[in-house]
Amino acid sequence: MLIAPSILAADFLHLEKDVETINRHADIFHLDIMDGTFVPNISFGFPVVEAIARKAEKPMDVHLMIVHPEKYVERFAKAGAAMISFHYEAALEASGKILDLIHSFGIKAGIVINPDCPVEKIFPYLDKADYVLLMSVFAGFGGQKFIPETLDRIKAVRKELRRIGRNEVDIEVDGGVSPANAKDLAKAGATILVAGSAVFKADDPAEVIAKMKG
Ligand code: DX5
Ligand code: ZN
Repeated sequence: MLIAPSILAADFLHLEKDVETINRHADIFHLDIMDGTFVPNISFGFPVVEAIARKAEKPMDVHLMIVHPEKYVERFAKAGAAMISFHYEAALEASGKILDLIHSFGIKAGIVINPDCPVEKIFPYLDKADYVLLMSVFAGFGGQKFIPETLDRIKAVRKELRRIGRNEVDIEVDGGVSPANAKDLAKAGATILVAGSAVFKADDPAEVIAKMKG
């Protein structure tokens, strides 16, 4: 299991400390980009991502929660992203083209859906995606409660990946993830866990990361 702490829950006054925690104990930097239009919240942008890139020793995973994701793929790729994902709901039938665009920068491409989007909507894109990001809360805010129906959604995507012979595709889960549900998520077929509050609001982030790794 790969653990991707979400910088959204980090201490922005002491960002270097939290970056070091990820370098030392976790696997991936999860960077939430919100535009105030696709989701009702604004997070952070290029100056923060570029600053993290200078210190990051683990790959940066950019989760775009923005309208017109195709407009910003190039800049995030050039800022050092190793993985970029965008919401199917923001792209619809352009999703295939955006996966190709992300790949054109030599990085991994992911497609994301919110908890109310039927998983079947993204099945046509599973042949191109390197990972699927299943939201286990509605995108927009950290600190929300995990939606348990996510477990069945993971199983359904994993089953379809097996059916098409692409079981190597990662399933990343994001929202309300903690040591309390990590084992069930792994059993359902998840391979990357994003966790913000559970990691950075803890007294001992390294211990929480180790518990989730299993
Ligand atoms: C929510 C973001 C998440 C968020 C997770 O829109 O995509 O990555 O930071 O935070 P927690 O782990 O606190 O639910
Ligand atoms: Zn996220």
